[in-house]
Amino acid sequence: MNSRPVSIKDVADHAQVAVGTVSNVLNHPSRVAERTRARVTAAIAELGFVRNDAARQLRAGQSRTIGLIVLDIGNPFFSSLARAAEDYAAERGSTVVLGDSGHDAGREARYIDVFEQQRVQGLLISPVGDLTARLEALHSRAVPVVLVDRKDDLKLFSSVSVDDEAGGYLAVRHLLDGGRRRIAFVGAGASIQQVADRMAGARRAVGECPDATLEFVLAEAMTVLAGRAAGERVVQAGPARMPDGIFCANDLLAIGVMQAVLLIGGLKVPEDLALIGYDDIDFAESAVVPLSTIRRPTELMGRTAVELLLGEIDDTQSERRQVVFQPELVVRGSTGSRITAQI
Ligand code: RIB
Repeated sequence: MNSRPVSIKDVADHAQVAVGTVSNVLNHPSRVAERTRARVTAAIAELGFVRNDAARQLRAGQSRTIGLIVLDIGNPFFSSLARAAEDYAAERGSTVVLGDSGHDAGREARYIDVFEQQRVQGLLISPVGDLTARLEALHSRAVPVVLVDRKDDLKLFSSVSVDDEAGGYLAVRHLLDGGRRRIAFVGAGASIQQVADRMAGARRAVGECPDATLEFVLAEAMTVLAGRAAGERVVQAGPARMPDGIFCANDLLAIGVMQAVLLIGGLKVPEDLALIGYDDIDFAESAVVPLSTIRRPTELMGRTAVELLLGEIDDTQSERRQVVFQPELVVRGSTGSRITAQI
């Protein structure tokens, strides 16, 4: 069994034409007579020839491929952002190839290596941790980089982000304005920059309210299951330690916490406990109790990231730009007004 990929020469020999003719059929079909074009196309189909774009693009000195590495493709926030980036890149004649780091630095490093070997046009990345040195090396080898969902305070790279500290403040301010005072923050640890920023905003809001308290509940991950486990711990801690308002670092966690509060704790949302998430993914509005959350311009973030990257690639964008969008409070049933005791 011949495992060698079918080459352009194999197609030329099979169709009894020159290699250049096959190349023209692939890249400039209008230059080839219809009968010859049909013969070459038939040979491509019969032999199962697949063009090697990476090699072709290397010979042409350029690739129209953009690498995108997100933190968690299982999170609708990132899949929506990736879709928007893909759609806009396609409008501009480029293709986005997606990698998912799963919040794992080793996986992230492997994807960066592969994208560099594939000579991508540029890289969009939502970093797991601090990648400055690795990304500067990439940049020094003429691979433009734009940070996604992370502001680059050093201004070494362009970036697209949301003011997550303001978002965390908005979320907890809303709970406090609704009369909640025992606030719990559920997140997967401050090692995730987005979580740390939202936590800082929550602290600032509680710091403005003398009779409010803030408790941190550590989740294993930024997922529904981790939210459900964290929610179970909250409801099983007993009434003395029960919060009356919970801010979750993203909507997936909030959906999991809601399951635990309603199904295991037998509590009512928002009467017994108000709940607010972050991201405004599609499932937020359709949750059992429609979830209040903090909305971010996800699709616009994806488009803007591609715009910044292509600007660097086409040399139309010389200076680095830090595009920071503002978060928006979305109020739904999960933080509606609590029903006070009838007197
Ligand atoms: O992955 C962690 C969180 O950071 C996601 O839910 C999303 O909000 C991103 O910003």
